[in-house]
Amino acid sequence: MLETREITKHFGGTRALDRVSFAVRPGEVHALIGENGAGKSTLMKIVSGALRPDSGTIHIEGSAIRIENPHHALQLGISIVHQQSSLVPDLTVAENIFLGRMPKTKLGLVDWKTLYCDAAALLRRLEFSLDVHRPAGDLDAASQQVTEIARALSVSAQVLIMDEPSAVLGSSELDRLFKIIRKLRADGKAIILVSHRLQEIFRISDRVTVLKDGRIVGTYALDGQLDPTFLIRKMVGKGWVERSLGIPEATGGELLRIEGLTRKGAFENVSFRLNAGEILGLAGLVGAGRTDLCKAIFGAKSHDGGRIYVEGRRAHIRSPSNALAHGVAYLSKDRHNEGLILCLPIGTNITLPILRRFTSRGFLRLGHENRFVDAMMDRMNIRSTGRRQLTAALSGGNQQKAALTKWLSTQARIFLLDEPTVGIDVGAKSQIHRLVAELANNGAAILLVSSEIPEILSLCNRIVVMSKGRVMGHLRSEKSNEEEILQLAT
Ligand SMILES: Nc1ncnc2c1ncn2[C@@H]1O[C@H](COP(=O)(O)OP(=O)(O)OP(=O)(O)O)[C@@H](O)[C@H]1O
Ligand SMILES: [Mg+2]
Repeated sequence: MLETREITKHFGGTRALDRVSFAVRPGEVHALIGENGAGKSTLMKIVSGALRPDSGTIHIEGSAIRIENPHHALQLGISIVHQQSSLVPDLTVAENIFLGRMPKTKLGLVDWKTLYCDAAALLRRLEFSLDVHRPAGDLDAASQQVTEIARALSVSAQVLIMDEPSAVLGSSELDRLFKIIRKLRADGKAIILVSHRLQEIFRISDRVTVLKDGRIVGTYALDGQLDPTFLIRKMVGKGWVERSLGIPEATGGELLRIEGLTRKGAFENVSFRLNAGEILGLAGLVGAGRTDLCKAIFGAKSHDGGRIYVEGRRAHIRSPSNALAHGVAYLSKDRHNEGLILCLPIGTNITLPILRRFTSRGFLRLGHENRFVDAMMDRMNIRSTGRRQLTAALSGGNQQKAALTKWLSTQARIFLLDEPTVGIDVGAKSQIHRLVAELANNGAAILLVSSEIPEILSLCNRIVVMSKGRVMGHLRSEKSNEEEILQLAT
């Protein structure tokens, strides 16, 4: 149905794609996997008209076609959900879904009534509950993703591309999405799914293609014979061994204590304590209030009641700079809008919260700063052309790593990490796990928000489960399991 032949693409000196030939058939879900920076999004942007290849051709049902722009791709029946949100924050959900294709009245004006009716009908058909009148900018990340998916599905495309659609979705939205994908497959559409979550890929895909350093490694049928570690080796290259970390021993004294923290409409009466050397998991479904809770502790959102204690003393945290002064750092889930300044170089982003460390008598000691940045980027394995590269030019996963690096560089002792491994490839993920464990071993206290229960179980000492803004239970991870957590979370 759709084929690329020998596609090559450079960004300056970086060869993002090297003679990539890739094909999807009607009626299949084809997964595209590979490490961060392997070229997955670049390839998908090329077949959906957002980027032009340097050389190579695209074929639709056998005939070569030059795709001029995204609109043209849509007309050709190719629809895409991008990895990064492309919604217009000030427009409503309905306007975003039909952007560029608004229904018109006989007089040529936008037919608002039809617009909102159509949007609501579409969401109902997809079984997503979302208020079509809300501005997209007010939505949480999962609802924004649902809006994007609805937009991609609002045209009857022959080829549907999803670049990491599940990274921010909750499990119920994910189930619905998979139901929709299965239906499209049954209708003979071709679906390309880019994802780092092998579990999901095994659940839904028919074939999988591995990209590594801009080249195709191979395409494999997922017929029950295929072994996940085989795919991981193909992605990462030989020599990759999954190492279990072991949960750190929490031995230190109390660093953070939350008592009855409340923010009306978000979370209520949340209490827990967190000791030095401890990793506390915060489990729950999307919308359970975990992000708002982190933001309140970090001072990025206010709270209406309750108290925060840092090292046993009452801390009045009213702003992020207050929080940093108390040694509290927060890695936002929304790396794009809250974590990074995309138009600045990577190095600048990393040292932003700690610039003072590199100043002496009012002057910035650039050499120091540069050496520090290089060492951190190396340690985190950020793939780029160097610290001066603009953050916007990094692959999605490498941007995530940059955001994490920025906070790890601060001398904070309490880390609130909101979904630190979303969108991160398998190799880098275990690196990040090791780093988090190392931080804890060095006496930091970590609050880990994650939607991946296995991640929480393997990394955390204790677990707090939240649902609808309330704490449903405190668990010890060695005595708990996935079912118990899910049960409390729903
Ligand atoms: N606009 C750009 N300018 C410069 N380099 C870019 C640009 N977009 C992508 N690149 C580079 O091209 C390479 C491939 O990036 P791409 O986004 O396709 O990776 P990916 O496989 O989607 O990774 P991820 O899993 O992190 O999303 C990377 O080295 C990236 O830095
Ligand atoms: Mg990508």
